[in-house]
Amino acid sequence: MTDVKKKLDYHGDREGVRRATPLEIAKYKASRIGSRSVVDLGCGIGVQLIEFAKVSKDVLGVELERKYIEFCRKNIVESNLNNVKLIKGDALDSNIIKIARNYEVVNSDPSRDKTSYTWELNNLSPNPKEILRKYNQEDFSFDIPVRFNTKLLSGEPELEYVSLGGEPKRLILYYGCLKKYELSAISLPSMERIVKGEEKIDVQYGNTPDAFIYDIDQVVSLSGLIGDFKKYVNKDFEVLEESSQRFLITSDDDIRSSFVLGKYKVLKGYNSLQELRKDLKNYYYGRIYIRFEINPKHYYNLKKDLEFNALGIDDIYIFKFDDKYYTSIKEEN
Ligand SMILES: C[S@@+](CC[C@H](N)C(=O)[O-])C[C@H]1O[C@@H](n2cnc3c(N)ncnc32)[C@H](O)[C@@H]1O
Repeated sequence: MTDVKKKLDYHGDREGVRRATPLEIAKYKASRIGSRSVVDLGCGIGVQLIEFAKVSKDVLGVELERKYIEFCRKNIVESNLNNVKLIKGDALDSNIIKIARNYEVVNSDPSRDKTSYTWELNNLSPNPKEILRKYNQEDFSFDIPVRFNTKLLSGEPELEYVSLGGEPKRLILYYGCLKKYELSAISLPSMERIVKGEEKIDVQYGNTPDAFIYDIDQVVSLSGLIGDFKKYVNKDFEVLEESSQRFLITSDDDIRSSFVLGKYKVLKGYNSLQELRKDLKNYYYGRIYIRFEINPKHYYNLKKDLEFNALGIDDIYIFKFDDKYYTSIKEEN
């Protein structure tokens, strides 16, 4: 058991620290659950548990692995908290279920089975489906993978897609009195939120950029809230690319939101890369960034080739839509 605290802020081994709930998410979730007493099933090294304990009257951590209980205990001692109890054991054990009845909220950020490529509850441990079945309680919250097929979920939980620093990180499910919204996407740390509205807003798809291309947090498309985002920013836009790599929209308007990760002013369109390369002689540019799908093996060669005349300052970003290439420069947003 190697303690890696010196490099990271918590006692834990690499795996425990890697699996820990990111601190900003832990803080946010604790603020959302509030002062209710909480049992955290699979508390790991205790990042989430400690944030719960800071705002809750009473918390209990349950953890299967002894080494994590030990790290967790050390982390609690250093946090000067006296409202935390820990139990080493299986979250689905009937004795633990009995003890958990004394707590108002049942929370779990389960481990994901790394070898599995399908997002099923059976690949999560402790298994939220089993927790829902065995715990005779109503107020639950689970953190599950962000790309989870929500049709496979039990009950009708609130769905909250969480992104941190522009990266979709998890889908949080809330049951019982913890439910606030039906479906939303939240960007942390800003806490900007898009909420599913009553009316369905149509979204246009296109392949010709307007004045600006926007790189949008993929949590907006993963949550299925593109129309609600359009209503929220109150601007007209078309979707240019919605893939596992990126979510790009285009507009003539200035769109401001924490869900906007980059704003690019479109300079010119070209029918081929050769045409674009030739025209680069007329630009006074710095680095070239390729913002379209390309075999990773060819990325640096192409970048180097296009940077043949990189004597200036402004970096050029190249997009590709429907076999046409577009040069652009990044603007402050
Ligand atoms: C993703 S980690 C939780 C991280 C934790 N929220 C934190 O902030 O450090 C999930 C934890 O659940 C534990 N676990 C898995 N199955 C369990 C079970 N059946 N009962 C109790 N703990 C379990 C794992 O050992 C792991 O430490």
